[in-house]
Amino acid sequence: MCGIIGYVGELHSGGQTDGGDGNEATDGGTPGSVGAIVHEGLRNLEYRGYDSAGVALVGPSSGLTVAKRSGEVDGLTVPDVPDATHGVGHTRWSTHGPPTDANAHPHTDCVGDVAVVHNGIVENYEALKTELADHEFTSDTDTEVIPHLIEEELAAGGEEDGEDADLLAAVRRVEDRLEGSYAICAVREGDDRIVVARRGSPLVLGRGEDAAFVASDVTAFLEHTRDVTYLEDGDVAALSPDGVEIFAGGEPVEREVERVTWEADAAEKGGYEHYMRKEIHEQPESLRQTLAGRLDVSAGDVDLDVSFPPGFLADLEEIRIVACGTSYYAGRYAAQLFEELAGVRATVEIASEYEFGAGRTPDRTLVVAVTQSGETADTLGAVRRANAAGARTFAVTNTLGSTVTREVDGTAFIRAGPEIGVAATKTFASQVATLAMLAVAVGRDRGALAAADARSVLKDLQGLPGAVQQVLDEEAQVREAAREYGDGEAFFFVGRALGVPVALEGALKLKEISYDHAEGFAAGELKHGPLALVTPDTPVLAVLTDGARADETMNNVTEAQTRGAPALGCVSAGDTYDTLDVSFEVPNVGVAEPLVANVYLQLFAYHVANDKGRAIDKPRNLAKSVTVE
Ligand code: F6R
Repeated sequence: MCGIIGYVGELHSGGQTDGGDGNEATDGGTPGSVGAIVHEGLRNLEYRGYDSAGVALVGPSSGLTVAKRSGEVDGLTVPDVPDATHGVGHTRWSTHGPPTDANAHPHTDCVGDVAVVHNGIVENYEALKTELADHEFTSDTDTEVIPHLIEEELAAGGEEDGEDADLLAAVRRVEDRLEGSYAICAVREGDDRIVVARRGSPLVLGRGEDAAFVASDVTAFLEHTRDVTYLEDGDVAALSPDGVEIFAGGEPVEREVERVTWEADAAEKGGYEHYMRKEIHEQPESLRQTLAGRLDVSAGDVDLDVSFPPGFLADLEEIRIVACGTSYYAGRYAAQLFEELAGVRATVEIASEYEFGAGRTPDRTLVVAVTQSGETADTLGAVRRANAAGARTFAVTNTLGSTVTREVDGTAFIRAGPEIGVAATKTFASQVATLAMLAVAVGRDRGALAAADARSVLKDLQGLPGAVQQVLDEEAQVREAAREYGDGEAFFFVGRALGVPVALEGALKLKEISYDHAEGFAAGELKHGPLALVTPDTPVLAVLTDGARADETMNNVTEAQTRGAPALGCVSAGDTYDTLDVSFEVPNVGVAEPLVANVYLQLFAYHVANDKGRAIDKPRNLAKSVTVE
């Protein structure tokens, strides 16, 4: 989920400097120079909120010049390279290795004549690093293997297939060695091309008259050209002053040139009106990133790259999850999985209410802080109280280098990419998926989970991205339901078991962006009080899936219907409840089904709020990161 920009061409004024004598550092170089155009592209991409930036510029006499650092794009000094003919730039959202200068892209090879920027995850980078034992690595990133592999292929000189030892051939051969998802841009000293490859992460080409661009997102170059070509998975392309060549399976191919009609503001949101809707739609991709390289389905195991002291998990008495808001609901989902899959008592506490409490043994307690930002003051306060009590602490977060990661004993990153909308959507899904993997890992370590049972859970998790996509494909149905029922006086969300945290989260999402009164309940509780509020003007939304005790929940829904309430349900594929007013189908993915049902509730909240013209991305009185107690 990083940002990529590349530029080659004649737009720049080529060497017209005001007295610059070589690779002098200025802020982006001469206006209109390659450096300035790449820097401007990075600024256009930064709306996502990145943590590091860098550029690589290539010129006939200057060779390859790289500049990179952690921090914001504006803090990056782009060198003035007057003869640069092309260059690439990158804004990083860390997934492997914290945001440091060394981990920022571009990465280079040992020779120092190849530079690469990369978006995605190279799943087999550890194995590749072992194969590249005689290469010196300077970062913690998965990306760094790519320039080293290119170096190796260039040195081998295409011996096996008789191809030239050039950058294009080398990138093609390197592709065969990479597992995972990626978008790559590579440049080489002495070569006038940018070579790019795409598998699983988006790349779009911009076609100007005497110039070509490549980017992860059209916003990067929209002020220069609106004629674009979206690369397809498996495509490799070479961009040079002479134009663009695209290859698929080694053969040249033609790809359609489309005209972008959006304005820059809409383009930043990928054509969506709001970041929230864009982020809801990003969930198949963000979940793929969350799961990438971590599931070993055949062995029934998980590799989250975390370690605990020997014997700690076996002796564990309790997992205590601390979190706020949406992250707290992710914790409530996870606590049930820890009890079921890992055979350990698991409790969840609102971070601002957390105290270590009597009757507990600190050295046999794992306190797990769930926080997408890693900066929530209440959650940090709870972590500090747990540390002071002597408990082992662990964080599940989206943000490398955040405060929480520096205060806990271990961290698992959810890899959801930056989330701009104040209402959390894709980070909730990735938090639950990460915690589910942790539950499997703990269960396996403690001997509480048989390999066959672990395999079945991991298969369900593997099915998540596809299942979420199927739900997104049904958005029109949700939009219609939002129109029909969105004027209710209040909205009640119900479920049981794993359906409870999803009901609570569904209600939170609706209330925060639509300002309507919405409450989530354990379905069985309806009859103990809330039923008094139910009228024909209070729609009830129910989670009726696997893992949510659907039949019992439906009995409670019927009690509400008897009082005239309309009922909308998220129902497992293959099941039917004829009396529902609206039934949303949830693909069969076992314990992950309530999480998939949540995507319907996100869309419902979005469309109700949108129909009311609310400020969806920045709801009144709310902030994305709450850094005060
Ligand atoms: C709701 C929402 C908030 C956050 C909460 C915790 O949509 O986003 O409820 O979940 O403020 O934030 P993090 O996860 O950053 O600790």
